Amino acid sequence: MFSGVQPTGKLHLGNYLGAIQNWVELQKEFKCIFCIVDLHAITVPDNRKDLKKNSLEVAAAYIASGIDPKKNIIFCQSGVSGHSELSWILSCFAPMGWLNRMTQFKDKAGKNKEKAPLGLYSYPVLMAADILLYQSTHVPVGEDQKQHLELCRDIAQAFNRFNNINFFPIPEPVIMGSATRVMSLKNGLNKMSKSDPSDLSRINLLDSAELIKKKIQKSKTDSGSFPENDQHLSGRPEVENLINIFCSFSRENRQYVYRKYSGKTFSEFKNDLAKILSDEFSIISKKAKELINETDYLENVLEEGAIRANEIAEKNIKEIKKIMGFK
Ligand code: TYM
Repeated sequence: MFSGVQPTGKLHLGNYLGAIQNWVELQKEFKCIFCIVDLHAITVPDNRKDLKKNSLEVAAAYIASGIDPKKNIIFCQSGVSGHSELSWILSCFAPMGWLNRMTQFKDKAGKNKEKAPLGLYSYPVLMAADILLYQSTHVPVGEDQKQHLELCRDIAQAFNRFNNINFFPIPEPVIMGSATRVMSLKNGLNKMSKSDPSDLSRINLLDSAELIKKKIQKSKTDSGSFPENDQHLSGRPEVENLINIFCSFSRENRQYVYRKYSGKTFSEFKNDLAKILSDEFSIISKKAKELINETDYLENVLEEGAIRANEIAEKNIKEIKKIMGFK
């Protein structure tokens, strides 16, 4: 199993619920590789600052969340050259038409596509290389990565077909949990994201318990009453989002939430949500803050991880070059 997070300096609740919280469960079942995708981060100019500090912060967040660095491989993408090497090879199997369909590029490039870096355009090919380099079979991500995963599957198939070989397994996206797409706390139609200018729109990994409480209390709801079933969620994206977050932290389903809160006020629900959320999240936050100061330990974990990742990557790159017919 392979997955990754970009070191962009602001891990938030979306990253946790869409990805990291699920990894903690999946590590019990799978051999896992958790990457800090620093080569992806540099596709956006702002992220090129503080790369090292931000990478250590992601490593601290992984470990604080419960990822075991001994059992699993945790490493930085830039420490294993196979990622870039395979990305080039795979880019030769990825028609531009496929890449032109990627909605994330369109969103991130904005109006002026001419000025967007080539790396931002080919971002999904590097992502396919990350996954395929280790012959991964499962990729746990948030819903926003589904299209990139589909492209990865298409590229793997194109490589296998062209070379008449079954070298790359076709990886399965694992999109699990109650909050696969966490929305902004201020506008339920926008994804929770680090680039939203309002800090009140998201809960950051390093927010204090008090700040988490304040953000939940200030989060947008509507003038309707607390929903009693899924039909009552229609057209109420902010309410649906808060209920999904509640379900993720309580490990309960929506029926439980409807039973518990129907007839009650949103403020009662928000008080409880703030409590379960900060109970789990602020413990992680506290551990992560402590770990961030243990630079030597984190650097060791990443170095060790890169060595283990390289062992697999080098063997596979050798094989891939042989398949391609390189001397
Ligand atoms: P990144 O850093 O943008 O996101 C990391 C993970 O967090 C999930 N996520 C969310 N999930 C639910 N709701 C949200 N609002 C939300 N925001 C982010 C993402 O789906 C992701 O799982 N391109 C990847 C990084 C990557 C990768 C890979 C992942 C590079 N190579 C190979 C898997 C396999 C990304 O989105 O990073």
